[in-house]
Amino acid sequence: MKPTCPAPDETTRRSAGAARPRRTLADLPGPRGLPVIGNLHELHADRWHLEFERWWRAFGDVFVVRMGRQPILVVAEGELVRDVLQRRPAVFRRTRAIEDVSREADMVGLFSADGEAWRKQRQLINPTLHARNVEGFFPSICEITGRLRELWSRAADERAARDVLGDLMRYSVDVTSTIAFGRDLNTLGGGPDALQEHLQRVFLGLNRRILAPLPYWRYLGLPADRAYDRALLAVKRLIFELVAAARRELEGGADRPARPRTLLELMIVARDGEDPRAHLSDAEVYANVLTMLLAGEDTTANTLAWILYYLASRPDVQARAREEADRVLGGGLIPTLEQSKRLEYTGAVTQETLRLRSAAPLLYLEANHDTVVGDVAVPAGAGVVVLTRATGRKPEYFGDPESFRPERWLGGASPMLPHEPRMALAFGSGPRVCPGRSMALLECAVTVGMVLRSFTVQLADHTAPVRERMAFAMQPEGLRVRFTKRACA
Ligand code: HEM
Repeated sequence: MKPTCPAPDETTRRSAGAARPRRTLADLPGPRGLPVIGNLHELHADRWHLEFERWWRAFGDVFVVRMGRQPILVVAEGELVRDVLQRRPAVFRRTRAIEDVSREADMVGLFSADGEAWRKQRQLINPTLHARNVEGFFPSICEITGRLRELWSRAADERAARDVLGDLMRYSVDVTSTIAFGRDLNTLGGGPDALQEHLQRVFLGLNRRILAPLPYWRYLGLPADRAYDRALLAVKRLIFELVAAARRELEGGADRPARPRTLLELMIVARDGEDPRAHLSDAEVYANVLTMLLAGEDTTANTLAWILYYLASRPDVQARAREEADRVLGGGLIPTLEQSKRLEYTGAVTQETLRLRSAAPLLYLEANHDTVVGDVAVPAGAGVVVLTRATGRKPEYFGDPESFRPERWLGGASPMLPHEPRMALAFGSGPRVCPGRSMALLECAVTVGMVLRSFTVQLADHTAPVRERMAFAMQPEGLRVRFTKRACA
């Protein structure tokens, strides 16, 4: 499906249904802040999403915070958040720092591109992640899920509690690298992999630079930045070699594969209609292979870790999900593709986890033009933060919003409780909604199905707090899980 990208005319510049603006950013409530730095000192490196949500509870659905002297509009009202996300790329864009830092790394892919460059990439790349293609990757997902099962079986034998987030990070690295460019890094299976270490350095460096208040690396050569440059060069060389090899193979004669086997190959053959110019260059394929690794790994691993957290801390939920897995899988230990689609309650557990523990609880945007959000005038260039998790925690959209109730997704909650699935925005919304959703949900179904059939899970220590930590994505800090083998495993 092609994204709809309205032109930047007067209609798109205003919020849907908005009349004339009645307020400016200066009229809005918000935390007081200090001279010069504004509220910057209150945003702690790994918990700033919680600070934004604390301000939301104090100041309401539309308020302003100050990053230095710059006022930033913060929006948590569901219709307004959806409206802002919908008016992309014409009126709003992702914050410019993402594109600038990615451009320096020659990595302007689907996540960081904007305007026309984004539109072209989206049209060509979106279809590569359609369910049909994702299902073609199913055997790889199952094989690597089997490896995770072996690791946790050994932990069960040794009665050792596991840092499941670390395991799931390695799991999603292996799955994503196999799917993205056909190289199984097998980080679950053992020692450090040089490529994985380079990738990790690149991703941490990108994150550090995007969040830095000033582009210090253009003037200072800190050791961490030199290491980032070296890692980036190594990754770039390898992926360009893989692109060249895949092109040779795909264009080759009789030995050519019957169909593309990886995302990289799908991107190389992607075409938009008959237009010979509508294809991706080697540089765009490179940028997007890295983008898939970056966008797909931590998000999926953190979501799976939070699902295990809920299963381990809610025996009633675990028992119901296990009963479903036993019924649907029969004697099997890892779901087949068809079985993974029938794990409805497990799917509801995943939806409920995403609602309460979204890996991306907020998104940073910028206004391309003078515009209006609700009744607020927003000048061109102003930052806009949308609190996508907050919309899923509003009682008018989800009754009893702080409770973990998977059954609300199955129509089984009290009919008196509001339930507005379109306000659950863990994958974003509008033309830039996450294109990896099907892949992420399939990975979740297979992994959780495997866990339920093979083990019972418990928190290693019920008294130890599990806290939210914002790294590349929002993760559970301090989560340790104990696995016990089931008789059937
Ligand atoms: C549970 C796992 C995941 C979550 C919670 C998640 C969440 C998100 C969110 C919130 C966005 C921004 C959407 C917006 O701006 O409206 C996004 C964008 C994106 N995601 Fe995901 N994601 C997940 C998994 C994946 C996977 C597995 C892939 C690919 C293999 C992927 C690829 C992307 C890409 C390429 C974009 C940029 C799309 C664009 O700007 O047009 N994501 N994701």
